Amino acid sequence: MLKLGVLVSGGGTNLQAILDAVKSGRITNAEVSLVISNNAGAYALERAHMHGIPAMCISPKSYESRDEFHKALLFELQRHQIDLVVLAGFLVAIPPMIVEAYPNKMINIHPSLIPSFCGTGFYGLRVHEGVLNRGVKVTGATVHFVDAGTDTGPIILQKAVEVQEEDTPELLQRRVMEQAEWKILPEAIDLIANGRVKVENGKVRISR
Ligand code: GAR
Repeated sequence: MLKLGVLVSGGGTNLQAILDAVKSGRITNAEVSLVISNNAGAYALERAHMHGIPAMCISPKSYESRDEFHKALLFELQRHQIDLVVLAGFLVAIPPMIVEAYPNKMINIHPSLIPSFCGTGFYGLRVHEGVLNRGVKVTGATVHFVDAGTDTGPIILQKAVEVQEEDTPELLQRRVMEQAEWKILPEAIDLIANGRVKVENGKVRISR
């Protein structure tokens, strides 16, 4: 049974999609063992409490340095013997120290088709604002392994979503979540938990 540690910053709808998929059997061989938020007010923590899952806030504001914050994060992941770290709307940069502790054992959901609209500065609604400002007709979401860069790791799954003329960033964000994120994040976890994902030469191979 793969032990998942889910890192969140906000509403936690992707966390909810994972919890629902575990309950319905769309994710097998995995359980959510720990939820960590950098933000004490994150509704995602409530969602974890309602499911009886250990949940905690680790905020950079509570530590004297960024390094101390990173050490606290890694300590909790290791203390709970987490096998796969899932960044589900975690809007904090992951330092090399933590990336190196979880080689190809940390995944991220990003709300665009990488390599478009990703990297530093592209997170949350800003991604969808960028899409609308550029006028692209198709966007989507990507699940990828986390490496030392920002949104540069091996791509596991992607799903496209059409942009509509009357979209606002909020409308587009919701459609990308519903049609892409809440589907491909649980699917990627299930594939990894069942040993179907391999990384070779920086690229992902999936056996179905
Ligand atoms: C999601 O859209 C996720 O893709 C995005 O933050 C949102 C979190 O929503 N993540 C990033 O932008 C990471 N670069 P949620 O808390 O409701 O799951």
